[in-house]
Amino acid sequence: MTVERFNSKKLAVSFRELFCFLRYAPAYRIQSLTFDSDKAVRRLRDRHPRIPQKYTQMKILVVGQGGREHALVYKLSKCEGVEKVYCAPGNAGTAVDGENVNIAADDLGRLMSFAKRNAIDLTVVGPEVPLVLGIVDEFKLHGLKIFGPSKAAAQLEGSKAFSKDLMKRAGIPTAAYKTFTRLEEAHSYIDVMDEGPLVVKADGLAAGKGVEVCSNRDGAKSAASRMLLQDIHGVAGRKIVIEECLIGQEASILAIVDGDTIIPLETSQDHKRALDGDQGPNTGGMGAYSPAPVVTEAIMDEIIRRILVPTVHTMRVSGYPFSGVLYAGLMLTENGPKVIEYNVRFGDPEAQAVLMRLKSDLAQVLSLAASGRLAELEGLEWDERPAVCVVMASEGYPGSYGKGRVIEGIYDADNLPDTKVFHAGTSSKDMHVLNDGGRVLGVTAMGDTIPEAKAAAYRAVSKISWDGGWYRSDISDKA
Ligand SMILES: Nc1ncnc2c1ncn2[C@@H]1O[C@H](COP(=O)(O)OP(=O)(O)OP(=O)(O)O)[C@@H](O)[C@H]1O
Ligand SMILES: [Mg+2]
Repeated sequence: MTVERFNSKKLAVSFRELFCFLRYAPAYRIQSLTFDSDKAVRRLRDRHPRIPQKYTQMKILVVGQGGREHALVYKLSKCEGVEKVYCAPGNAGTAVDGENVNIAADDLGRLMSFAKRNAIDLTVVGPEVPLVLGIVDEFKLHGLKIFGPSKAAAQLEGSKAFSKDLMKRAGIPTAAYKTFTRLEEAHSYIDVMDEGPLVVKADGLAAGKGVEVCSNRDGAKSAASRMLLQDIHGVAGRKIVIEECLIGQEASILAIVDGDTIIPLETSQDHKRALDGDQGPNTGGMGAYSPAPVVTEAIMDEIIRRILVPTVHTMRVSGYPFSGVLYAGLMLTENGPKVIEYNVRFGDPEAQAVLMRLKSDLAQVLSLAASGRLAELEGLEWDERPAVCVVMASEGYPGSYGKGRVIEGIYDADNLPDTKVFHAGTSSKDMHVLNDGGRVLGVTAMGDTIPEAKAAAYRAVSKISWDGGWYRSDISDKA
């Protein structure tokens, strides 16, 4: 695909045509400039996904060890053509639904040897670190099929400056910003910004701790100094992005992408703060629900048209086509949805709530995406019922916490109808499950309405306990 072939005028026209016909069709293909209207009508008439290929006895490797990876292992292990699912390094839950392999998620060399030795048909990468390190390029170089973005495309998450520049070029709505490596210039920019809250971000990956929302200019200057001078985030913070603070409700939109076909997933919303009412410190996520009613069909259309399609298109014409999970973190402002950030993998704990509702064959979807054949799939089938995921955490999290305490009641909770306890930070010893991380379990349940799903999730939570285990009691209340 070359820039010439995709000159923007031609594309704008073909997008408009595409959207007239495919407004209600769930897959969006941006590569094809010729449009088959018969096919579009067929799609509108028959919304059921077509099965494009049969596969059997697939062996899958999931990389990672959190709740998101347990949800992936669980769903993949239930797929018809899947013989075995390995998880590296995994946790006590993935050891039950799959088989754990004692290799760290960032040990690319050993992961590759394992995949070759065990004739793995598809590798699915959970966390961002191996993606940013280039696991996809390495695997592909050795002829191994893998679902995720290349190292170049993973910069969308790995560098905030890269993603902001891409949004600017593509005209994607986002907060006004500038990028700095020198403190004096950063301070001068802050001085000319409107008085009020400002956001200072480390450019690189900082394990969810690289963003400071500051209430005024002095706070922003001090955050910039800590990143650029005191090096609090190391290399990740030697370049910073300073941006306008957006006001509104946050929502996450995830889509499976294969370079040019986009299949949006059902919407979801995370709860970042530790305490009820969105108080307390930021965490990796204390719960999630799906769908997020705040994202209406009209807003979703706008997100697809103004954000997802131009992002995927601009990545392609810039020479790094995006394949994998495109996660757009959005602020729904009074001026429409704006991008806060991109991630290049499933969210955790959003994945637990969203995947719980997926009825389509996940192995097939990810396999087609990894082969660049997502267009063969007409869309995804979903359970209409909402899902709520409540995260149970260790005492002290998100600060330091103790490990090795015995968790009781998981089995009873898991046996409740439409309920699944996804493990995140757990290990096992002598037939016991122990807490082994900050976020320990993602207790997920479905119900006919969001309040019913919430009640079901908390019913399951009430059966589980360990010394110091805690959780938020208001997950999904803002739905
Ligand atoms: N411009 C902004 N305006 C308002 N709030 C913002 C802005 N940018 C970031 N935030 C807040 O800070 C949070 C973290 O920001 P961001 O998503 O960019 O960082 P991150 O470290 O990559 O997060 P994650 O760990 O979810 O990937 C956002 O979820 C949002 O609440
Ligand atoms: Mg991020």
